[in-house]
Amino acid sequence: MSSIKEVLNDAEHMLGTHSDSATLDAEVLLCFTLSKQRSYLRTWPDLELLNEHKAHFFKLIQTRQKGLPIAYITGHKEFWSRDFIITHDVLIPRPDTELMIEICLQLIPNNTTQQIIDLGTGSGIIAITLAAERPHLQMNACDSSLAALDVAKLNADKNNTLINFYQSNWFSNIPPSKFNFIVSNPPYIAEHDEHLLQGDLRFEPLSALQAKAQGLSDIKIITDTARDYLAPEGYLLIEHGFDQQQSVQQIFNDFHYKTVQTAYDLSGLPRVTYGQCP
Ligand SMILES: C[S@@+](CC[C@H](N)C(=O)[O-])C[C@H]1O[C@@H](n2cnc3c(N)ncnc32)[C@H](O)[C@@H]1O
Repeated sequence: MSSIKEVLNDAEHMLGTHSDSATLDAEVLLCFTLSKQRSYLRTWPDLELLNEHKAHFFKLIQTRQKGLPIAYITGHKEFWSRDFIITHDVLIPRPDTELMIEICLQLIPNNTTQQIIDLGTGSGIIAITLAAERPHLQMNACDSSLAALDVAKLNADKNNTLINFYQSNWFSNIPPSKFNFIVSNPPYIAEHDEHLLQGDLRFEPLSALQAKAQGLSDIKIITDTARDYLAPEGYLLIEHGFDQQQSVQQIFNDFHYKTVQTAYDLSGLPRVTYGQCP
C-alpha cells in the first residue's frame, strides 16, 4: 500500500525528464484514476490507495513517459472553462485559441441573430464555445474529417449547443449562404517543420497541423473563398502562427479585405488576423 503523497512523489520522479509539467501531469492522472478533483489530493495526502488504483495510475504514468499527451490519455481537455471530449482524431485544444473567442465576443453583437461558421472545427471548441456564450447565434461548423465531426457532435450535445455540422473541404459542401462571421483555426505549420516531430505534435493528426506553401496554403484558400460567403461588413478571423502575421496580413490585403488587423496573445505574440468583407 502507498499513500497519495507517496505515489505522486514517485510519479513526479518517473516523469521528471519526460515532461516539463511532471507535478501537474501526475496530479491530473491520479485524479483521472480516482475520479476525483485535485482538491481531494490536497485534502487527503496520507490516504492509502487501493492496489488496483495504484497499478492503473502507474500504467498511465508509463504511457505519459512515452510522450502521449495528457488529453489523449484522459480523453478530455478543458477550454474556456468547459469540458471537451478529445480523441486521436482531433487537435488538442490550445489556450492560444481563447484569443479567437475573446475577439469574437468583442465583435459579435449581443442579442441579435448572426450567421457564423467555424471552418475546420476539430473537437468543436470554437463553434461550441461561441454558441454557448451567445445563444442567439446561428452556428455552423465544418471539417473535412468525419471522425473529427463525430467528436464535435458529441461535444455539442455535451455542452447543450445547437450547431449545423457539415463534412466539407472548406466551403465546397457549404450551401450558398451569407455569414456575418467566418472563423477558422486552420492547419498552418509548414511541411517538414521540425516541431512536427516534437512534443504533443507527434501524436496529433497531421491533417490538422500542416499546410503547403510555408503553412499558408489553407489560409489562402479560406481568405479567397470566404469573400463569396461573407455578408456586407462581415468579418473573417483566422488564427495563425506567431511568425505569420506579415504574410497573413498580406493575404488579407491582396484579397482587398478592409480594416485588417492582428490581435496578440498574452505573451505578446501575434495570433489572430481579421478583417471585413471587401
Ligand atoms: C488546427 S485544427 C483546429 C481544430 C479546432 N478548430 C481547434 O481550434 O482546436 C484544423 C482543423 O481543420 C481541419 N481541416 C484540415 N483541412 C481541411 C479542409 N480542407 N477542409 C475542412 N477542414 C479541414 C482538420 O481536420 C482540423 O480539424
